[in-house]
Amino acid sequence: MNLDILIFLGSVRESSPPKPARLGLRVAEACKIQLEKNHNVTLIDPLNITLLKPFKPHFSYAKNKVPENLDFLAQQIEKADAYIMVSPEYNHSMSPALADLLNHFGSSLFSYKPSAIVTYSAGQWGGARAAVNMRTFLSELGCLPVSAMLHVPKAQEVLNDDGTFTDSQDRNLWIDYFGRTFAQLEWWGTAAQNQRLNGNEIQPRAFKVNPSQRNAP
Ligand SMILES: Cc1cc2nc3c(=O)[nH]c(=O)nc-3n(C[C@H](O)[C@H](O)[C@H](O)COP(=O)(O)O)c2cc1C
Repeated sequence: MNLDILIFLGSVRESSPPKPARLGLRVAEACKIQLEKNHNVTLIDPLNITLLKPFKPHFSYAKNKVPENLDFLAQQIEKADAYIMVSPEYNHSMSPALADLLNHFGSSLFSYKPSAIVTYSAGQWGGARAAVNMRTFLSELGCLPVSAMLHVPKAQEVLNDDGTFTDSQDRNLWIDYFGRTFAQLEWWGTAAQNQRLNGNEIQPRAFKVNPSQRNAP
């Protein structure tokens, strides 16, 4: 079954050094190329989304006062069946731009739908340390990450600018590696979609006023 999948790109960096800038774009494109063979895929680029200061999340606005771009993205998130979160590793942490964008939306929009963690780096570790903290972040956001993660070290050598794999002997291994994570995402995404189609929606019982509403007695 077709899924609506949103790919969130975690880089807003256009300057260098370090080179190349926006390495993440090719990683996000690589995911898109593979997933759109079977699904409807939309790339969410944080450079195209203006976030106002001071920080005010989507859920803090009165309904008729939400900025149009924020509301549009909220609708896309709500409609989606699954998410791909693509992040560079900055100082051994996930992308602050990605965290900031996601913090603008309540967990009820993401809940009961799966996500996949995709990290990359220009160096040899592929963003593995950023991924550890992304698992906690995404779990709290409600879109539980599937167990298989994608890490792309030296992404500038693995991927061309347009997201195609470079002509190395490992090309097919990379495609297979991406496919393993995506297969998990598809399985969970389809299962969750079926639950919704069958009317088995869970009442989220999200807190409405204060996080203490989730406290143990
Ligand atoms: C502020 C900053 C911090 C970085 N920290 C790390 C790091 O902790 N680990 C790592 O492997 N690479 C690190 N890098 C290098 C990135 O892997 C590399 O610059 C990559 O291109 C970043 O992705 P982007 O171009 O999509 O923004 C860092 C780069 C920047 C700009």
